[in-house]
Amino acid sequence: MRTIGILTSGGDAPGMNAAIRAAVRTATCHDIRVVAYLDGYAGFVAGEFVALDDRAVGNILHRGGTVIGTSRCPEFFDPAVRAAAAARMRDAGVEGLIVIGGDGSFRGALALQEEHGVPVVGIPGTIDNDIWGTEETIGFDTAVNTAVRAIDQVRDTSESTGMMFFVEVMGRTSGAIALHVGVAAGAASVVVPESHEDVEAIAERIRRSIGRGKRSHIIVVAEGDEAGGAFGFAKRFEAVMPDHPYRVLVLGHIQRGGSPTARDRIIASLSGASAVEALANGRSGVMIGIQCGRPVEVPLRDVIAHGKPDPDFGMLQLAQALAG
Ligand code: ADP
Ligand code: F6P
Repeated sequence: MRTIGILTSGGDAPGMNAAIRAAVRTATCHDIRVVAYLDGYAGFVAGEFVALDDRAVGNILHRGGTVIGTSRCPEFFDPAVRAAAAARMRDAGVEGLIVIGGDGSFRGALALQEEHGVPVVGIPGTIDNDIWGTEETIGFDTAVNTAVRAIDQVRDTSESTGMMFFVEVMGRTSGAIALHVGVAAGAASVVVPESHEDVEAIAERIRRSIGRGKRSHIIVVAEGDEAGGAFGFAKRFEAVMPDHPYRVLVLGHIQRGGSPTARDRIIASLSGASAVEALANGRSGVMIGIQCGRPVEVPLRDVIAHGKPDPDFGMLQLAQALAG
């Protein structure tokens, strides 16, 4: 293989740049050229790419976002668009493709391989940590740390005033961020899309903790919860605890940005290097997962067939048990 393409797709995630850097520099060791398609599948469809050499990926390891841009590209759902894009790729002499993104991006990648024989390798890059076959996705650790830092600050005012805070974290279909943030930030409870919460039971726990003298109360709500995020959940809560003052805080996209943590830089570096090793050695149709801290190749077909992994509800029990 002489030339491979790389793209980032879906929501950006801190650490994607570290993966791009690792892929380019590993490719150099194999005498393989890397070209980056700009703005995800949008650039791939348009055939827009730039060559990346070792110097082009200098000084990006610590930067959030993705220097090659990303997008959600509805056109890529169309088989005819994929066929034209695959032909354009072949004509340009690009022989394999690394796709950094979430499960949607992997569906697109697998379609390319199965329909047009394009060798693809996926790298899980999404703050949501909702991909089967890997313990962690690139960006999750940074997003969790960002949310925890914000809640630590909110706790100061909650403790001072006695106001309760409903803090919304990202995760339209996944409660992973909320559950981890809940434990790490000492939340009274965590509300996630994957379960139906008993508002009265949460209120009763808070009433008891107020009785024991507790002043700060943080409830972490995933944006995709059925109640309608933190604002919706706060309204439901107000109905059962009408006299308690509260505020709602939506953390939003600040969780997607910022310099990646060391953990994210490390898993991204391992994954970017392993993706190139796979392609260089004739292996494709796989995702580079992280299992027991090490990179492993997991068939993309299995990743997609399993769908989203179950969230770790043990984290919810732990947060509640430790809330005091
Ligand atoms: P993520 O990759 O983070 O899960 P999305 O689900 O939004 O994010 O998918 C990102 C992009 O991947 C989509 O905008 C589309 O271009 C492509 N994609 C998603 N699902 C498919 C699919 N089933 N077939 C082809 N392309 C897809
Ligand atoms: O998939 C990553 C993510 O940040 C989700 O947590 C969130 O629901 C979604 O993307 C937001 O997407 P957008 O930036 O397109 O609104």
